[in-house]
Amino acid sequence: MTVVVMMVVMLRHCNGLNMNYYIMSCPMTEFIIKNSVNSALRAYQTLAAGLIRMHFHDCFIEGCDASVLLDSTDDNTAEKDSPANLSLRGYKVIDDAKQLENMCPGVVSCADIVAMAARDAVFFAGGPVYDIPKGRKDGTRSKIEDTRNLPSPFFNSSELIKMFGQKGFTAPEMVALSGGHTLGVARCSAFKNRLKNFDSTNDVDPSMDTQFMKTLAKTCNAGDDAEQPFDSTRNMFDNAYYNMLQRKSELLTSDQTLMADPKTRPIVNGYAMNQAMFFFDFQRAMVKMGQLDVKETGQVHQNCHKIN
Ligand SMILES: *[C@@H]1O[C@H](CO)[C@@H](O)[C@H](O)[C@H]1NC(C)=O
Ligand SMILES: *[C@@H]1O[C@H](CO)[C@@H](O)[C@H](O)[C@H]1NC(C)=O
Repeated sequence: MTVVVMMVVMLRHCNGLNMNYYIMSCPMTEFIIKNSVNSALRAYQTLAAGLIRMHFHDCFIEGCDASVLLDSTDDNTAEKDSPANLSLRGYKVIDDAKQLENMCPGVVSCADIVAMAARDAVFFAGGPVYDIPKGRKDGTRSKIEDTRNLPSPFFNSSELIKMFGQKGFTAPEMVALSGGHTLGVARCSAFKNRLKNFDSTNDVDPSMDTQFMKTLAKTCNAGDDAEQPFDSTRNMFDNAYYNMLQRKSELLTSDQTLMADPKTRPIVNGYAMNQAMFFFDFQRAMVKMGQLDVKETGQVHQNCHKIN
């Protein structure tokens, strides 16, 4: 028992992160970030999805190092300016939380702010409350071409399992993280591929409910930027996403494939039936994601938009 506990403690610390990282150096950290997130979300509920997506996008490319926040410069086009950034929102929330710089200059990294803001957004929207280890440093590389390493909305289950597997995630963890789609919307450009031939009786997408397909076709009449919520409770963090999957009524190929594939279907059914289990697995997967390729040494950007 003691050995197991010690190993867990060692694992926690081997990447330089820990739960109490700022407790001495900047004790107001958690409070200030939560305040920034809460006041932004009270005004714009839909930003919760943006903050979660921002953390995911940050961690998947170059590790959780705030590279997603860096602006392009004369000689570098940053991740931010990739078409994959389209749904990235919430930069202002991070800038607002960065007022921490006035209290504790050079202490709290932008990468940690992004991670804590995502965690606080989950909670604000009604999801699980959880603590995350802190101590990430900010990176200096942010290149548009790196964003091709993001999972695509057109991926099938095997491709998702492979890409998340390369980052160390199991298939169940991938399915739990996909549950982040309980919040937010997708644009037509990300799912109209599934609507081809929706008028033809012979050639419809067999993984999509016919009635739902008609709804989406209607939405998409307004153009590629038209938005459709992932589930009926778009601002509430719950397990409705998995119920939508069961009803063949999710938006993206990369969503519905989780129900179609017999390897991931039991996990979907489990989360659809048991929200507490989804919450538990989701927060564990988020804590794990938040430690992807973190940098122990490096900068704390004074301004999250640029390197020092
Ligand atoms: C996202 O990228 C596009 C170019 O593809 C750019 O015009 C836009 O300003 C970027 N959005 C943000 C928020 O950086
Ligand atoms: C998933 O996509 C890959 C690449 O396009 C393809 O080779 C594979 O057959 C697909 N798998 C399924 C189950 O459709």
